[in-house]
Amino acid sequence: MTDTKPILEVLSGKRQPVPPVWFMRQAGRYLPEYRALRERAGSFLKLCFTPELAAEITLQPIRRFGFDAAILFSDILVVPHALGRHVTFEAGEGPRLEPLDDISKLTALRTQPDESVLAPVYDAIRLVKRDLPTGVALLGFCGAPWTVATYMIAGRGTPDQAPARIFAYAQPDAFAALIDILVEVSSRYLVEQIRAGAEAVQIFDTWAGVLPPREFQRWCVEPVARMVEHVRREIPDAKIIGFPRGAGALLPAYVGDISVNAVSIDRAAEPAFVRKHVQSRVAVQGNLDPLVLLAGGNALDRAIDDVLANFAAGPFIFNLGHGILPETPIAHVEQTLRRIRRS
Ligand code: CP3
Repeated sequence: MTDTKPILEVLSGKRQPVPPVWFMRQAGRYLPEYRALRERAGSFLKLCFTPELAAEITLQPIRRFGFDAAILFSDILVVPHALGRHVTFEAGEGPRLEPLDDISKLTALRTQPDESVLAPVYDAIRLVKRDLPTGVALLGFCGAPWTVATYMIAGRGTPDQAPARIFAYAQPDAFAALIDILVEVSSRYLVEQIRAGAEAVQIFDTWAGVLPPREFQRWCVEPVARMVEHVRREIPDAKIIGFPRGAGALLPAYVGDISVNAVSIDRAAEPAFVRKHVQSRVAVQGNLDPLVLLAGGNALDRAIDDVLANFAAGPFIFNLGHGILPETPIAHVEQTLRRIRRS
């Protein structure tokens, strides 16, 4: 018997009678078993770079909930880390890097990653693959160049990514050089993840929505299109999901220029617009509001039904509009899976 995986079927354009489901950030702080391992390991990056721990955390939500996909436990900021921009994660504070706030630091940036930093990621993928239940697909991922660059420039998360936006306006050539490095390194990183066993990959462009149309085209669409072309040159049937969070009315430009297999949409995306301009061309993934998942109750049931009514008539993967929040009750995740699967 062949092991068909519903999520891979959807990524081939085939609608499934019951939509496959996984959640962004499904491995993480809302799970007591994650918090216990995090406590013992001490640091978040130690979890990411210890293959046995990363594999174990990747599988935790699969064992508990039976999601249709496992997403490799890691972070988008391991790429700058491998480029020598050391990242730390302080509990409750978010990531910190030394800011790339002037041209001299940018020109000194290495253009090739330290492969020994990324090697444990590929080892974790091989370990997960060994223990993955039938029918469950393994997803790899990376950050899109724009989103990764916003953290590298500012050295931290900011509400509107003003530091990177200002840098890109004031020094477009230097910024383009940074984006080019990230395109190259991230494409190769995805290829290696797929070679190690990832069955599809997602490109997270969390901060796509802060850019005006011209800059969206230049810093989000063009770089991600080049990444997808690079990955497909090496792995022609690679399955790729794009997540241009906040793209809104610019979604048609995204799917028009980038040959992704699916687009992950955020909670604010307008359903009729998405059906017409996105789902007519590629599969859609999304877009339950993480806050309604946190709130639960009848509001959650209604929101799940809305998402299904909006998108489940076509190729569709059920997901959140953004990552699951640490305060989310486990019972609400269970309620959601039961309702999608009518079980
Ligand atoms: O989805 C998964 O379960 C896989 C693991 C994963 C993490 N980060 C683990 C993580 C994935 C896919 C990411 C992606 C990521 N990381 C993005 C893009 C998606 C998004 O959520 O917007 C971004 C922007 C980052 C950068 C990052 N990492 C931030 C801003 C933070 C701090 C905020 C937060 O949620 O804590 C992190 C830390 C992080 N990444 C944690 C986890 C489980 C929490 C670390 C901890 O345990 O303290």
